[in-house]
Amino acid sequence: MRSDSSAASPVPVLRSSRLMLRPLCVADHASLLAMANDVDVTRYLHEGPPPSAEEMLNRVTRAIGQWERRGYGMMAVEDVSGFVGRMGVFQLADDTEPLLVYVLCRSGWGKGYATEAVPLILEWMRTMHGTEQLLAHIDPRNTASTRVAAKLGGFRRGTVDRAGTMLDLWVFPTKR
Ligand SMILES: CC(C)(COP(=O)(O)OP(=O)(O)OC[C@H]1O[C@@H](n2cnc3c(N)ncnc32)[C@H](O)[C@@H]1OP(=O)(O)O)[C@@H](O)C(=O)NCCC(=O)NCCS
Repeated sequence: MRSDSSAASPVPVLRSSRLMLRPLCVADHASLLAMANDVDVTRYLHEGPPPSAEEMLNRVTRAIGQWERRGYGMMAVEDVSGFVGRMGVFQLADDTEPLLVYVLCRSGWGKGYATEAVPLILEWMRTMHGTEQLLAHIDPRNTASTRVAAKLGGFRRGTVDRAGTMLDLWVFPTKR
C-alpha cells in the first residue's frame, strides 16, 4: 500500500498491488455516465434517476470542487485495463456528514477490488485528515456491500431514511 500524497498536496494517488486510485476528473465523464446508466450497478444506490450527460458533467465538476474545498473527495479506481469504478468520501454541503462511497463497474465485481481499495481510502483519511471513522449508507438487501463492510471491520449503527427508503448506517473505523 502506498500513497503519493503529502500534506502540501490535496491530490493523492493511492496504490495497492492491483489498483490505483486518483481524484475524479472531467475525462472520467463517459465512464461515469455508463456506470450510472447500468441498473445492476445503481440498484441499491438510491441516487435518483440516471443522470443526463450534462448532469453528469455537473456532478464531476462538483466532485472536483469538493476536492479543492475539502482536500478529500471522490476518486476513480483503475486496474490494469483502466477505469473500473469510483470510490471515496462524498460531502457536498457543510451540514451533511462525509460519507464513504464505493461503486465498481460490473466488470470489476467479484475480484476483491472493494476490499482492496476501501482500506486505502480509510488509511489516507486517517493519516491526512485525522479521521477516526467514516459512515456509509447501505441498503440491507445489498449483500455484496454489507459483506465488504463487515470484512473491513465495519459495524451497523442503526438506520437512516434516504428519501423514504430506510438504509443501514454502517461505521467504518479507519484503524483496524
Ligand atoms: C458492493 C461492491 C463494491 C462490492 O465489490 P467487490 O469488489 O465485488 O467485492 P469483493 O470482491 O471485495 O467481495 C467482498 C465480499 O463480498 C462478497 N460478495 C461480492 N459480491 C457479492 C454478491 N453479489 N453477493 C454476495 N456476496 C458478494 C464476496 O464474496 C466477498 O466475501 P468473501 O471474501 O467472504 O467471499 C460491488 O458489488 C458494487 O460496486 N456494487 C454496485 C454498487 C454498490 O452497490 N455499491 C455499494 C453502495 S453502499
